[in-house]
Amino acid sequence: MKAPRELWTSRVAFILAAAGSAVGLGNIWRFSYVVGTNGGAAFIIVYLIIIAVIGYPMMVTEIALGRKTHKNAIGAFKALAPNTPWWLVGALGVLAGFVILSFYSVVAGWSVSYIFKTIGGSLGADADFAGVFVGHITSAWAPVIWHAVFMAITLGIIAAGVVGGIGRAVRILMPALFVLLIILVLRSLTLPGAGAGVAFILQPDFSELTAQSILGAVGQAFFTLSLGMGCMITYGSYLNDKDDVPDNGAWVVALDTGVALLAGFAIFPAVFALGFDPAAGAGLAFITLPAVFASMPGGVLFGVLFFVLLSIAALTSAISLLEVVVAWLVDEYDWSRKKASLIIGVLIFLVGVPASLSNGAISFNIAGMPFFDFLDFLQESILLPLGGLLTAVFAGHVWTAKKTREYANTERGKIVLGGWYDVLIKYIVPIAIAVVMIFGLIDKFS
Ligand code: PFF
Repeated sequence: MKAPRELWTSRVAFILAAAGSAVGLGNIWRFSYVVGTNGGAAFIIVYLIIIAVIGYPMMVTEIALGRKTHKNAIGAFKALAPNTPWWLVGALGVLAGFVILSFYSVVAGWSVSYIFKTIGGSLGADADFAGVFVGHITSAWAPVIWHAVFMAITLGIIAAGVVGGIGRAVRILMPALFVLLIILVLRSLTLPGAGAGVAFILQPDFSELTAQSILGAVGQAFFTLSLGMGCMITYGSYLNDKDDVPDNGAWVVALDTGVALLAGFAIFPAVFALGFDPAAGAGLAFITLPAVFASMPGGVLFGVLFFVLLSIAALTSAISLLEVVVAWLVDEYDWSRKKASLIIGVLIFLVGVPASLSNGAISFNIAGMPFFDFLDFLQESILLPLGGLLTAVFAGHVWTAKKTREYANTERGKIVLGGWYDVLIKYIVPIAIAVVMIFGLIDKFS
């Protein structure tokens, strides 16, 4: 006989798990370099507006679809629109979970290996920081082994179940993450000269904004909130029918945004105080920050804390990516959770191997990009925006905005979705995503 579907043990368990999914490499590694290369405060303001106008409505929509159906990403669409092709939106999400985790785990592996590089002294004051990083990611074995370790932990947690695996892990990891982050912010803000970094995040210079940075802000919003791929549908499906949707969604969005901003306060004051370039790009966390740590008092300790923080954040997101795929096989095909976690975990690991190698160990290009960059491009420019667009159209026009809103409002919390929700989900969200997608693709291939 099939075991009954699990439910979160409490409201806090859901919020921690969903915030754990949202808070990840996207908030620390990606957010900091995107802010750094897009001029700082002005970009942050645009990003916050997009979070409110697109991110929050999408968040409550996905959670509502999950709680309503108690189904995985594909099953939820099947339940609400049987015998129609809408389940393909969920399938796009399952594919995205697979694609994202295969390279996400590689980056998470870099982060874990940097804990040991910092302890081992290979990132001391006279190190060639860029050389160490490039040497690491282009080598054949080390990044693949760390990727394997990270995937093994991820699949172990998912195999242990929603309550015993995910719920238990986030209850320990999320508080640890907040404590580490606060320590790093305090260290950074108390360095002499930190003020210039604070100004960089708080004083907007709108002349720095370009159309490209607005597109970047939308992409960042989807990725950081784990939206557009059925992840929040899946996590929402383990909610009790009595749990509220609008308040819980607001908590997740607020925690994710708070962590991104705090990560900014941990990183930029230190970068400025010690005279480094905030616009260093994707290498900011792995090249610039180790250099920053090496030149500050207590640097080894703070360096280790930073990479532990980054690895924890990555882990609580990685489990949610794997859960999207596993929940589908468990719900729809009656696979046992252990079997699904093991098989899918190993397959994702295998796809991650050529992704890691394509960074330099071998030459493996698709559509003119290394396979690693291709996977990132696929999720950022196609899978997440398309999934988000179609989910908004589904909720707004097929299930209908009125029904989605009334359903989300059934358990009254502090926030009640009003007519504004209908306007956002029916028109503003899908049109904004469509525009961004089209411009992004034209820009990429022109
Ligand atoms: N939100 C995660 C981050 O910011 O790192 C990444 C992510 C997790 C994206 C889960 C999508 C997802 F479904």
